[in-house]
Amino acid sequence: MTHVPPAPAPKQPAADSGKTLYGGTGNRRITVRDIAAAKQRGEKWPMLTAYDAMTASVFDESGIPVMLVGDSMGNCHLGYESTVPVTMDEITLLSAAVVRGTKRALIVGDLPFGSYQEGAVQALRSATRLVKEAGVGAVKLEGGERSADQIELLVQSGIPVMAHIGLTPQSVNAYGGYPVQGRGEEAAQQLLRDAKAVQNAGAFAVVLELVPAELAAEVTRSLHIPTVGIGAGAECDAQVLVWTDMAGMTSGRVPRFVKQYAQLREALGGAARAFAEDVVGGAYPAAEHSFH
Ligand code: KIV
Repeated sequence: MTHVPPAPAPKQPAADSGKTLYGGTGNRRITVRDIAAAKQRGEKWPMLTAYDAMTASVFDESGIPVMLVGDSMGNCHLGYESTVPVTMDEITLLSAAVVRGTKRALIVGDLPFGSYQEGAVQALRSATRLVKEAGVGAVKLEGGERSADQIELLVQSGIPVMAHIGLTPQSVNAYGGYPVQGRGEEAAQQLLRDAKAVQNAGAFAVVLELVPAELAAEVTRSLHIPTVGIGAGAECDAQVLVWTDMAGMTSGRVPRFVKQYAQLREALGGAARAFAEDVVGGAYPAAEHSFH
């Protein structure tokens, strides 16, 4: 695995770039209007997942403009095998922590499996809880045409929605794994219909997960809302990664589309072993760590 050196802090923006999502100035929260303006400008932007206040504060200080409290917390944070078991209580608790840890980023809370599939009214109840109790600025839900009614009611009710099409991990049991989506003419046409359906329903952005790059580029060109790619090539308006994958915290193999920008698992393990050896060998605590 190649180690990529950390990027320097963003340069001071030019006079007219105070509005850029990454590298922009301003200490108010990013809103969905800022996201729409970025698409107009043709500006690309980064999004990361976050599941706790401390990590979220690091990303906020680094200028990440949008954070997703993803149900990937199931695999990455809560020790489940998939996103399926994640509950509204868990998403609400961790979303509130991420909101508390940030000042600028738009925080998007994920609606977990079972919290919106019954229909629009159930979706509104769940999304309202995330907005009121956790303070998120938007919610995300999976599905294209099949989730259009839910998206429409949330948007009409004043809750911004990020849609998610292509591979939708909450359907892992139906897929029998995590296969690339949109391959072949029929599947590609369905993806395009899904993208149009969520845009027409009022979504402010749409995640495209695990779809061929050429198809993602076509979807991106055909929409006036931004596409957020994950395993969907370089032409999407934005890119999202699960932070534990991006920073090398995840154990074992990561998906092919992931680029690792650090090796935090190795660094943290090294710190833990050094501490343990100091304690066992009597080197910690030293005089400067003690009170008299
Ligand atoms: O839950 C999540 O982290 C997600 C991203 C992979 C888009 O849905």
